[in-house]
Amino acid sequence: MALIDGNRIAETIVAELKAEVAALPGRKPCLALVRVGDDPASISYVRKKEKTAAEIGVTGRVILPPVTLSQSELETLIDGLNADPAVDGILVQSPLPPPQRTSGLFRRVSPNKDVDGFHTVNLGKLAQDDDSGFVSCTPAGIMELLSRSSVDLAGKHVVVLGRSLIVGKPVALLALQKRAGANGTVTVCHSGTRDLPAITRQADVLIAAIGRPEFVTGDMVKPGAVVIDVGINRVADASKKAGYRLTGDVHFPSVEPKAALITPVPGGVGPMTVAMLMRNTVKAHALAHGRH
Ligand code: GUN
Repeated sequence: MALIDGNRIAETIVAELKAEVAALPGRKPCLALVRVGDDPASISYVRKKEKTAAEIGVTGRVILPPVTLSQSELETLIDGLNADPAVDGILVQSPLPPPQRTSGLFRRVSPNKDVDGFHTVNLGKLAQDDDSGFVSCTPAGIMELLSRSSVDLAGKHVVVLGRSLIVGKPVALLALQKRAGANGTVTVCHSGTRDLPAITRQADVLIAAIGRPEFVTGDMVKPGAVVIDVGINRVADASKKAGYRLTGDVHFPSVEPKAALITPVPGGVGPMTVAMLMRNTVKAHALAHGRH
């Protein structure tokens, strides 16, 4: 087996984007990051996005609305960002604290600023193989990890675990596209799937995105498979300073010896999500300046 080093691949992309942004004339790309509440994982993700933006030369504007804002007040806030010509990309960090609902806000973001790719228009474009929209960051990052690791999905059986809007559905659409690097035969499994291990054992490429710690075990994986672990789960661990450790959806010790290639957690898909967000922000800036 070999590890797919997401940190290294993301660093390469960040360096490419940094050079691209440095060469841009005039105002640099600007990303508005909206975070509501104090979910610890969201705090850490938004901080990482802000830090990477700064590294590239993208202006990160972090907006922390009070948790007491109503859904319609949040929508008004998004409307203001949509109308602001100094803002190129808008991201509403998910999850939102109840009773706010992310789906309505995702649709409120202008499709031209929807760097998360969650808007109906952008998901529709993805389903129609139309490159002019935004592809959500984690699925785009998975495809980039595969292509930069010389994994061609053509003719392969790609099994996706999970049907979320953020990962499962869009990554299945990407793997299915009739284009170089993709063209896979795709099966999507979910909580209603019967005899899931019988299906995962057929996977040439297994993408686990269900948010259940160490769900995929060695007996569920075909020898020589490529395993992409999208999960970032916090599991209580008193031996750690933080009181928890991060673990993926894959039980690494039993799967790693069977896999030809595997992504670690952390340091696999996670850094790629951030790199793709930056790429989308640069694309949104180009759109705003009529360069796309
Ligand atoms: N929460 C977990 N992943 C994501 C993501 O890619 N975008 C947003 N907005 N929230 C998330």
